[in-house]
Amino acid sequence: MARTTITTQVAIMGGGPAGLMLSHLLAKQGIDSVVLEIRSRQEIQETVRAGILEHGTVNLLVDSGVSDRVLREGDRHDGIELRFNGESHRIDFKELVGESVWLYPQTDVFMDLAARREADDGDVRYSVTDTSVSDPEGTPSVHFTDADGVDFEVRADLVVGADGSRSQCRALIPEAARTRHFHEYPFAWFGILAETPRSSDELIYANSEHGFALISQRTETVQRMYFQCDPKENAADWEDERIWAELRKRVNGNGFELKEGAVIDKMVLPFRRFVQTPMRHGKLFLAGDAAHTVPPTGAKGLNLAIHDVSVLFEGLDSYYRTGSTDLLDSYSDRALERVWKAQQFSYWMTTMLHTSADSDSFSRARQLGELNSVVSSRHGMAYLAEAYTGWPGHAS
Ligand code: PHB
Repeated sequence: MARTTITTQVAIMGGGPAGLMLSHLLAKQGIDSVVLEIRSRQEIQETVRAGILEHGTVNLLVDSGVSDRVLREGDRHDGIELRFNGESHRIDFKELVGESVWLYPQTDVFMDLAARREADDGDVRYSVTDTSVSDPEGTPSVHFTDADGVDFEVRADLVVGADGSRSQCRALIPEAARTRHFHEYPFAWFGILAETPRSSDELIYANSEHGFALISQRTETVQRMYFQCDPKENAADWEDERIWAELRKRVNGNGFELKEGAVIDKMVLPFRRFVQTPMRHGKLFLAGDAAHTVPPTGAKGLNLAIHDVSVLFEGLDSYYRTGSTDLLDSYSDRALERVWKAQQFSYWMTTMLHTSADSDSFSRARQLGELNSVVSSRHGMAYLAEAYTGWPGHAS
């Protein structure tokens, strides 16, 4: 059967938060796009992901008219606790840098964006198969088969690869034209959802000789927690009691006691960092996890993806309004500036808080010295607060 041809301005590969946000921003300016996503809407909605939004991400969601649900149902957090040597130290974001973050799971960001695109009659196709992009340097086109088995060809001026950490688009940039920076950490995070009231109103990032733990929240009755583990661990091998024993060792003490309950979800999350440069080749632009991955310690993944597409949007908008390619030409450099800052922050938080099997007595004492140098200094705490809440420069 012949392929049905669709003509659009921007073909967006990937219907996660980055792809949907870009398509939403473009639509508001009258720029046409088609979004192709291989997963079903249901599958994306059911994937448990991280939950911290920088104020710039929240502003973009609200100001661009996606939804203000984050302000009503999300939790504003004005600080976090760093816990080490059995003691908690509050980093007061609001007081230090005048900003906050919101706890609002990525799944909710996706649901808001998907609902907005649907309400605006955006062309978003989930559950597509056999996607392939051809001629990204000349006349780009994308072949795909839709959920009903119909074959299509999309002809577009430009292609955006927002297709996540298993990106197909990033491989379209020839080896000679790209550099890949990849590192796998020697540990992973064991993540759980547990039915229990919150143990703390704010996130607790805990360092202990037994390893790192993070106490986060979801709702009044369900909480999210993580602890550092061996990447070879199998989540199914862990009974509830073994999980709680591990968390207790890392965070309880000096009057603080975790509230425990039934573990309703558990998973081992790989820990890696990755950047592919540049983020543009010919008429192909990469955004979000397709171009970079950060370890989750700094809570930067989704925020970086949203920053990428807000910068890319400026380039596309300027191109379609004026014909100038200046902002498209500088997209990769402008996006990467923040990507590398976030890589540094995530690397710093990770090494400061995790323990490594081969660490000797010097490394452990040095790590505590580092943590102390942060919490005993206004400048140290402000560095963390500024990075965590998000540096200025978020386009909107
Ligand atoms: C989460 O709530 O899932 C979460 C929060 C902060 C992080 C990572 C994950 O750094």
